[in-house]
Amino acid sequence: MKRSSSMSRRAALGGIGGAFAGSALLDAQQDPFRDHSRVPGMDELTTVTEFEAVAFAKMPRDFFMYMAHGGEGEFTLRRNREAYDWVELVPKGVVDVSTVQTATNVLGTPMAFPIMTSPTSAHIQLHREAEAATYRGSQAASNTPYIVSDAATLPKEKIAAAATGPLWFQLYPKRDMDVMKAWTENVQALGGKAVVMTVDQQATYYERTTHDRHLTAAGPSEPPAGPRGGRGAVATRGPRAYRVPDYRLWYNWKYAEQVKAMLKVPMVAKGILTGEDAELCIEHGFDAVYVSNHGGRSMDYGPSTLEVLPEIVDAVKGRVPVLFDSGIRSGSDILKALALGANAVCIGRGARWGLAAYGAPGVQRIHEILQGELVMAMAQTGRPTLASIDRKLVKTNFR
Ligand SMILES: Cc1cc2nc3c(=O)[nH]c(=O)nc-3n(C[C@H](O)[C@H](O)[C@H](O)COP(=O)(O)O)c2cc1C
Repeated sequence: MKRSSSMSRRAALGGIGGAFAGSALLDAQQDPFRDHSRVPGMDELTTVTEFEAVAFAKMPRDFFMYMAHGGEGEFTLRRNREAYDWVELVPKGVVDVSTVQTATNVLGTPMAFPIMTSPTSAHIQLHREAEAATYRGSQAASNTPYIVSDAATLPKEKIAAAATGPLWFQLYPKRDMDVMKAWTENVQALGGKAVVMTVDQQATYYERTTHDRHLTAAGPSEPPAGPRGGRGAVATRGPRAYRVPDYRLWYNWKYAEQVKAMLKVPMVAKGILTGEDAELCIEHGFDAVYVSNHGGRSMDYGPSTLEVLPEIVDAVKGRVPVLFDSGIRSGSDILKALALGANAVCIGRGARWGLAAYGAPGVQRIHEILQGELVMAMAQTGRPTLASIDRKLVKTNFR
């Protein structure tokens, strides 16, 4: 066969070289004006929210969206943040704030600051060391307690072996009582100082996810079951019929009492949003109430957690500690929650941004920024001790 019309080896190589030269990748490498600081060094970041942009830059979009989204149209997600703007700080003028005291103790766990790491799932989406890094970073920040999610990526044993700081374990209720018993024995053997049972129902799906056409998304992200069917129409019975994962919408207070009987450590109810439910928690043996709307990921059109905090604190009347999360991004946010009666707060997305951006040092830095800002806010408002923080420190304009 005559081969004279074939491309010569030289021309072929030239063609490939030309294609590379035109590629966006090489173009970027050759850009003499390229700005290395587009992903800044950790020390350049001074606020928690700055870490979100770095996390975004470093993460696959699906994983970032899984972390960012709130339920349905995200009214509650937005309201969680807006609520802090509706609370003014009222400083005391003439106070000696030369030392600021932040140490506390919640359910027997000593804390240098009233701040913990919230339980959040699947840290492998954020960093290759996953929850081990979150634990190490939390511990490095003045021994911040870490609440391990029941949906963590790493086995609980591996997480517990990664550091020596205080660990609590979050629980998604399990129907099989033998499984439940084995779970409680395991987390107590691993040194868990408390168990946090999540009782919000996450009855939702995420419009942001469906807009993004993440067609592999399963469970609560499924579109609603319409009359014409579709993927959401598959489940007609059980929690999934309401777009709720299987581990929700079946337990009751009696079940909580049975789990409590399996524990030697305190048990906390996470996801409480009314004074009435807080009262029931105490009645049914919970040792603390954790005010949370899952960072706006549970039912949409619920209130922000800051708005309902005073009602819950009033119902609890100091009988058990009140923990609090959802929307905290700064030290003054924390101060407002403490002023409205929280004994300690927990950090969800903030810690995740730190982990995704810089691994364990990122988690540590997030906590240290918040700790520093809290001290500053306490000093500026003339409240040098946790005991001196009360409702007179805030003026609420909730709307
Ligand atoms: C990506 C993600 C995963 C979460 N996974 C869990 C979980 O496994 N268990 C749980 O009780 N709460 C989970 N939460 C809720 C957090 O514990 C916490 O309530 C919430 O993140 C606080 O709001 P914030 O992110 O605005 O700080 C998750 C939150 C996010 C953002």
